[in-house]
Amino acid sequence: MATAVVAQYSRPNMAGEIRAGLCRTGQKELPSKFLYDEVGSELFEVISVLPEYGVTRADERILQSNAADIVSRLEPHVLVAELGCGSGKKTRWLLEALASRQSTTYCPIEISPTALARCENELGRIACVSIVGFERPYLDGLLAAAARRTENDHLFVLFLGSTIGNFDRDAAERFLTEVRRILFPGDALLLGTDLEKPLPQVLAAYDDPLGVTAAFNLNILARINRELGADFDLAAFRHEARYNTVHRRVEMHLRSLRDQIVKIPGAGCTVSFRKDETIWTESSHKYRAEEISEMAQRTGFRCEAQWIDAEWPFAENLLVAR
Ligand SMILES: C[S@@+](CC[C@H](N)C(=O)[O-])C[C@H]1O[C@@H](n2cnc3c(N)ncnc32)[C@H](O)[C@@H]1O
Repeated sequence: MATAVVAQYSRPNMAGEIRAGLCRTGQKELPSKFLYDEVGSELFEVISVLPEYGVTRADERILQSNAADIVSRLEPHVLVAELGCGSGKKTRWLLEALASRQSTTYCPIEISPTALARCENELGRIACVSIVGFERPYLDGLLAAAARRTENDHLFVLFLGSTIGNFDRDAAERFLTEVRRILFPGDALLLGTDLEKPLPQVLAAYDDPLGVTAAFNLNILARINRELGADFDLAAFRHEARYNTVHRRVEMHLRSLRDQIVKIPGAGCTVSFRKDETIWTESSHKYRAEEISEMAQRTGFRCEAQWIDAEWPFAENLLVAR
């Protein structure tokens, strides 16, 4: 059973956010959400099968082996909402387990229309599952999904992979608190967290020898050229992944290889770069397994269960709204 309804939403103010990030004094930044246009979403799918990037396979192993256990811990009637669903491939295991006990509505939430379409295509033919997709930012989409629940429904929110790691730690807790505000007691959140691991392993995951992650990162400049008429010379920037031991995160940067000036007409600005200056495009914070239940407590949840992959340090955590 499948009903693919895509609710459109006014796009984020890309020009304004890009101008603010590149024209600020100090470290230049670009919000990581802009990595995911059509090209970026496709490149992310390739990253997810690279031998060096173990996150997606670890998550998949956990979900495939434990879907029945996860579902057995939920209230009887749930409406499923997934934040930043991407291709939705891993979600199949959960939806099939849920659909074996009840008809299920699944609301994937995405800012990338390409990812949302891919997800609807991937999961649109599961018996007893209806899909209502929202092309919106996370919390707007979650509010829209929550508005569809009936009196008997509990919300089951998925935030899989390591996307929570893109938030700074304080921002992650503020975000979880916002999610909690939309939920009722007894609603659940399945939260993926990539765990700390040896430095060579974590760095290779964000700087593969094939250069796919480099292309994914550089595509943000190519996207600004395409959508805002900028004249970034992609050959004059180089992808860089660094581990910040204080904040326990991988940072992706684009390093300017020379002094240069870039015009971005669609954002109404011109930006100067010094040789070796960088643009910070994404962070990926790494967690310790025991941190999650403390974070859950501080944000209005309790950690009901945690599953850790045996091959790649990664945890899925079932948080229940208190
Ligand atoms: C790292 S990918 C993870 C995809 C998938 N959940 C997985 O585990 O493989 C993050 C996804 O979140 C989406 N995304 C990023 N920022 C978003 C936002 N603010 N609102 C909604 N979706 C967002 C991206 O388009 C992308 O598909």
